[in-house]
Amino acid sequence: MSEKKIEVIRNKIISIENYPKDGIVFRDILPILNDYTAMSYVLDVFEEHYKQITFTKIVGTEARGFLFGVPLAQRLNIGFVPARKKGKLPPPVISETYNLEYGTDTIEIQADALNSNDNVLIIDDLLATGGTVNATYNLIKALGANVEHAGFLINLPALGGEFLLNKNNLQTFNIFN
Ligand code: PRP
Ligand code: ADE
Repeated sequence: MSEKKIEVIRNKIISIENYPKDGIVFRDILPILNDYTAMSYVLDVFEEHYKQITFTKIVGTEARGFLFGVPLAQRLNIGFVPARKKGKLPPPVISETYNLEYGTDTIEIQADALNSNDNVLIIDDLLATGGTVNATYNLIKALGANVEHAGFLINLPALGGEFLLNKNNLQTFNIFN
């Protein structure tokens, strides 16, 4: 059943060559949001995978991590914390700068959003170099919370993100490559 759902999801993704820069194949996940069934299937697959683990919060990364992180937090009956690009969250925040497949960025979390009682699941749409989620992981750890799992719709293993995150003891799950 899960294979059928994964095929429905996969068929919604559009690959765009040389966007936003030459040499990049951009995976556009937005058509999933336009299709009630495909979006429900994404949440079903994540929920099925993570329902046995007790998390207290999902942290999702701006912007596409919000799209899946918020509804999945509702499915798992837990709260959601946004990790946002620099300058978007009211202080106090903690920040970390990281490299992307196509540039650099700084990500922030509100300093009071998590504490040592939290067990966090990180959710993002896509794992490429791992820079975004590695920076998010560092921020969550800096606030004293526990974090051992990160879930993605898509993993691009050739870019090394999975290797980087696993090296930091973050277990990764992805719906497809
Ligand atoms: C994309 C994507 C992931 C990240 C993956 O976000 O949504 O968050 O890049 O790349 P990495 O594994 O190399 O860090 P982007 O920064 O383009 O922002 P957006 O979601 O706001 O479009
Ligand atoms: N973020 C980083 N690399 C990406 C890609 N190839 N497609 C979509 N989002 C991305």
